[in-house]
Amino acid sequence: MHQRIAIITGSSSGIGKAFLELLAGDKGEFYKTPFDEIWAVGRRKDALDAIASSVSSVKVVPIAADLSGDSGIRTIEDRLKSEEPVVGLLINSAGMGIKGAVMDKTAETLDSTVSINCSALSRMIRITVPYMKKTEAGRPAIINIGSSAGFLPQPGFACYAASKSYVISFSRAMSCELKPKGIDVMVVCPGPVATDFQRRATEGKEADFTDWRKNFVIDPVKLSRASLKASRKGRKILVYPFSQKLLHLASKIVPTSWILAFMGN
Ligand SMILES: NC(=O)c1ccc[n+]([C@@H]2O[C@H](COP(=O)([O-])OP(=O)(O)OC[C@H]3O[C@@H](n4cnc5c(N)ncnc54)[C@H](OP(=O)(O)O)[C@@H]3O)[C@@H](O)[C@H]2O)c1
Repeated sequence: MHQRIAIITGSSSGIGKAFLELLAGDKGEFYKTPFDEIWAVGRRKDALDAIASSVSSVKVVPIAADLSGDSGIRTIEDRLKSEEPVVGLLINSAGMGIKGAVMDKTAETLDSTVSINCSALSRMIRITVPYMKKTEAGRPAIINIGSSAGFLPQPGFACYAASKSYVISFSRAMSCELKPKGIDVMVVCPGPVATDFQRRATEGKEADFTDWRKNFVIDPVKLSRASLKASRKGRKILVYPFSQKLLHLASKIVPTSWILAFMGN
C-alpha cells in the first residue's frame, strides 16, 4: 500500500511552516482524509526536527536539503524513487530575496535567488508529478508561492521581483500542461507577510517591514488557509489580500514606465 503524502518546501519557517501545521491539524476542512506523511523540506535540520516532534496528528518526515543545488533536489528524488508514495500535494514555499541594488550584490546572491525561487521550484514539480495520482481524497495539487512583487519590476529588489514573475508565468503555464493529468496548479501572490523573510531580505537590518508596507502585513496562517481553500476549488491564481488585488489590477492597466517613475519619486 503506497503512502499518500504532502511535500512542503520551506517548511522550517514562515509560510511553509504555517501550511504544514494547518495540514497536520486538518479534520476534513481541506482534504477528505489526512495525509499519511508530510515531508518537510528545508536546510535547517534542527528547525525541521523541532516541528516534526511538535506535531503528533500526522507523521512529519524532516528532510534537510539545500534545494539551490543538484544534490538537494536529488535527495528528494531518490527518496521518491525508493518509497514510491502517492503525492497528493506539493507546496513550493522555499524562497529568498536580498534587498539592494544589483551592482552591490555578489554573484552568489543573484545565483541563489534564481536557483531557489525559479530552478528549484521548477525541478520539484518535474520530479514530483510522476507520483501524483487522483485518490478518493481528491485531485492532486501543486501550490507555488509567488509574490505580488512579481507583478512589476522593482528597482532595489530587481532579482527577487523578476524571479517571482517567473514563478507566476511558470505556474500559469504548468496549470495548462498538467490539466490533462488531472493535477491542479495554483500560484499564490501575497504582499508582505509576517515571517522571517524581511529580516533575511535586509540581512538582519530590519526584523519587520518598516516602510508603508507595514500597514499591509498579513498573518501566514490566514494566507495558508485561504490558499488551501482556493487550491481545493481549483483556482489557478490567488492574489491575497484585497490590497494586492488592487496592485495587480494597476499593474495590468497602468503603463509600467509610469509606475516605475512614481516609485522612483
Ligand atoms: N514574507 C513575505 O513578506 C513574503 C511575501 C511574498 C512572498 N513570499 C514568499 O513566501 C515564501 C516563503 O517565505 P517566508 O515568508 O515564509 O520566509 P522565511 O520564513 O524566510 O521562509 C523561507 C523558507 O525557505 C527555505 N529556504 C530558503 N532557501 C532554501 C534553500 N536553498 N534550500 C531549501 N530551503 C530553502 C527556508 O528554510 P531554511 O532556512 O531551513 O533552508 C525557509 O523555510 C518565499 O518564496 C517568499 O518569496 C514571502
